[in-house]
Amino acid sequence: MPGIYDYLEDKDGLLHIDGISSTEIARRFGTPLYVYSARRIRDNYRRIHDAFAARRENFRANYAVKANNNLSVLDLLRREGAGADCAGPGEIRMAKSVGFPPGRILYSGNYNSDEELRYGLESGATINLDDGPLLARLLRFGKPKALCFRINPGFGKGAYPGVVTAGPDAKFGMREREALKAYRLAKEAGIERLGVHMMAGSNVLETPYWAAITDRLTGIAARIAKALRIELDFIDLGGGFGVPSKIGMKPLPVEDLAKKVVDAYEARLAKTPEIGDPTLVIEPGRYLVSDAGVLLATVTHVKTSAKRFVGCDAGMNTILRPALYGAYHEILPATRLDARRSLRANVTGPICENTDMLGKDRRLPKLEPGDLLAVLNAGAYGFVMASRFNSRPLPAEVLVADGQARLVRERETLEDLTRGEPIPTSAG
Ligand code: LLP
Repeated sequence: MPGIYDYLEDKDGLLHIDGISSTEIARRFGTPLYVYSARRIRDNYRRIHDAFAARRENFRANYAVKANNNLSVLDLLRREGAGADCAGPGEIRMAKSVGFPPGRILYSGNYNSDEELRYGLESGATINLDDGPLLARLLRFGKPKALCFRINPGFGKGAYPGVVTAGPDAKFGMREREALKAYRLAKEAGIERLGVHMMAGSNVLETPYWAAITDRLTGIAARIAKALRIELDFIDLGGGFGVPSKIGMKPLPVEDLAKKVVDAYEARLAKTPEIGDPTLVIEPGRYLVSDAGVLLATVTHVKTSAKRFVGCDAGMNTILRPALYGAYHEILPATRLDARRSLRANVTGPICENTDMLGKDRRLPKLEPGDLLAVLNAGAYGFVMASRFNSRPLPAEVLVADGQARLVRERETLEDLTRGEPIPTSAG
């Protein structure tokens, strides 16, 4: 297949995933099913990591666990040398369970409860606070050796409004003036190592933006370091590195990205020696796993009404992004890749909502119940955002590695849906 989907192949009209036929995978594990390519995840990590590491030695990449928290995916990325960016206790626990050392985990929470702050501290992860006054609450549980604050650099960018995470409307981070106060308090508390963090938006493909936002954040960091006479341990630019949603779109030029970011970063350090030599950190999620995952679904029913609908067993409960953001996912007719795409149809699932559309007005061949569909770019924010809406069990996950397809998360059963609930006994 073209471009970024180099692990997908069309063999006589049948989609193969890293050499294994999609019908074989669907037969063994059922659908709806998330299938990930270990090779593609590894390639993605190396491509972005090496582009930065070649230009700056003092560099680290943390994987944003929220994009795909499957333990086998986490393990693979840990073995590659990634650290972990975790959003809360659940992700910290998962990262630790596959051996991420606490020193390589950054806990970026927001609106944390006391329990979460305490969990973070006791886990040994470095805590990234989203607001200055959280520090006093954290200190009640103990004093961390290292600490970070999340800055709102004043602007951000995202593929859709819902994934812009900085700027005046964002709930995240603090402005420079609040940050200055927060770092002063942290210094007075005697915290030894301090970092600076931002996460300004997701799925960005333009490189000039990255130069501009790096310049903005390092400018804020430099002013704080100078004013308070503190050297910084690290500056974390967050994630947000984009993946094309449509076949034929240009992928993120990572060499150019790394050059622009490292140039802007090092220009700032050269201008502000007071800042020290902080490690440059990035925390990609989507870039590492999105295009390495495919969601396989089986066509259940085809209906012609005012419009044509291709119904399948994956709905907004399985993959939420189209319903939530209007996100575009390519949908391939996995069992009829060589058939003429003569029809236009909306692809829908079994959920009782009219937002339950995986794709609208798509060119597809004539399909029948039993045919397979492959939803692309399903490796990031796919399974992790799935729900049990309409009382449907969560799907399974499979990892293809070394020519073998392996179940890495069991499909839930109907029994799982009522686990933990007492069955009320009727009166009398
Ligand atoms: N670091 C932090 C603190 C984050 O909040 C995020 C994502 C990342 C890193 C990784 O960002 P990435 O490299 O994946 O863009 N559910 C949305 C994406 C929301 C991203 C939220 N934060 C989607 O499906 O498009």
